[in-house]
Amino acid sequence: MQREPETELMEDKAQVEAYARADFSLPHQQFIDMLSTLVEPAEFDGIALELGCGPGDISRRFVKAYPFSRLYALDGSKPMLDYANALIDDSNRLRLTFIHGKLPDTRLPLSRYDLIFSNSLLHHLPEPGVLWQFIKRYAQPGARVAVMDLLRPETRQEAKDKVACYANDEPEILQRDFYQSLLAAFTLEEIHRQLHQACLDFTVTQSSDRHVFITGRIP
Ligand SMILES: C[S@@+](CC[C@H](N)C(=O)[O-])C[C@H]1O[C@@H](n2cnc3c(N)ncnc32)[C@H](O)[C@@H]1O
Repeated sequence: MQREPETELMEDKAQVEAYARADFSLPHQQFIDMLSTLVEPAEFDGIALELGCGPGDISRRFVKAYPFSRLYALDGSKPMLDYANALIDDSNRLRLTFIHGKLPDTRLPLSRYDLIFSNSLLHHLPEPGVLWQFIKRYAQPGARVAVMDLLRPETRQEAKDKVACYANDEPEILQRDFYQSLLAAFTLEEIHRQLHQACLDFTVTQSSDRHVFITGRIP
């Protein structure tokens, strides 16, 4: 099945509200757990950058799991960041900053980051190379990178089955978004090609029947 790109930024009010209210605790905690096997939470005292943070669920989990970290989390959607800012715990306000900006043209507060991560951004990008180049531009030498995203099923029917299996109880708008995201996602082969083109020697692992986890270190 050919890729069908979806709208890049999530700015529609109803769409953002449905996304912010949805329960992503399972995949998001899995993301933090997988990251923790690569970067020891008690030992990381550097500055992290999250790309496409949406309403900030992973951002909040990250600062909780990594007590000595500082996180800058970026998204191009103002409505998403309104949720993210409203949900910051006061105790984390000094370690977590949300930034409104769109890849690739945004300017970040710092020129280099010790850890860069992202979940579910890649499939939103019309041109996926933008993510890999952005990471290369802002990663400190030796920085760890972790990117999780959806994988595109082979058929529309398979995508519909995944929506029925994992989002059956969710509002219709979320089911529609999930379906469109599955159609917009990349295959393992395409991701390997993107990394090769970006000269990034990263490991690509299928982490569930619908997720891919990509990780590596910047030389
Ligand atoms: C599916 S959401 C994922 C949100 C969050 N990472 C999570 O896992 O819940 C994708 C987010 O990427 C943002 N986004 C898409 N393209 C972007 C770009 N070029 N620059 C910054 N943010 C972007 C969208 O606005 C949206 O909030």
